[in-house]
Formats: sequence, structure tokens, C-alpha cells
Amino acid sequence: MSELRWERIASVAELTAVGGLMPAAFDRFKLVLYLVETRVYASADLCTHGGARLSAGYLQGHLIECPLHQGLFDIRTGEVAGPPCKRPVRVFPVRTEGDEIIVGFPLPRTEESPEPKPGDG
Ligand code: FES
Repeated sequence: MSELRWERIASVAELTAVGGLMPAAFDRFKLVLYLVETRVYASADLCTHGGARLSAGYLQGHLIECPLHQGLFDIRTGEVAGPPCKRPVRVFPVRTEGDEIIVGFPLPRTEESPEPKPGDG
């Protein structure tokens, strides 16, 4: 499992105030935050079927319905729960500390060789 960078993204109070579904962003990631009962989840804000924004969809329990063609994903796992979607949506680990929502993002790869190439410099 890759290492994660944990970042504070929003507060539970903010998410509650907008009805438990809101877009968020960090670095190159566009996310949706979901509040179901007392638990917060996060997924990519991009339907894998046609690229619609899931943050404009409808949250029904643990399922997010895409606003474009009504595909369904389980926000706990990202798995498809209804057609026409076929590929899961990316989900991110979430923890809460008091009122703070903290999301884990994969660290960027650092596979570039630090060694200078022949002829460099
Ligand atoms: Fe989401 Fe088609 S774009 S179901």
C-alpha cells in the first residue's frame, strides 16, 4: 500500500450545513465529501461512465446517483451499484478529528532518477 498524505479538507459543520454532499479540492484532486449519519466519505468528483460531476448527484444512503445517466456507486467502496457505470469510482480514506475532515491522498511518485545523466551539467 502506498503512503498517504493526510490533509484537512473541510469541517463536519460545513458538510452538514450543505446537506451532507459537497465538492472539495486538494492539489490535483477534485473530490466529493459525503456525510452519512455520523460518518464522512470521500470519492473522486468524476463519474467513470461519462465524466459527470458526482457532487451534482443525489445521495441516497451510501449510494451516490450520477446526475447525468443515473448510474450508482457505493461511496464506501467506490464499487458500481447500478448501470450504466461499469468501472468503480476512486475513493479516498477519511478520518475525522473533532470537527475536522482529514482525507488521505497518495503521495506523488518519486521515481525520477536523482542521478545526473551523462552530459548533464
Ligand atoms: Fe454518470 Fe453516465 S455520466 S452515469
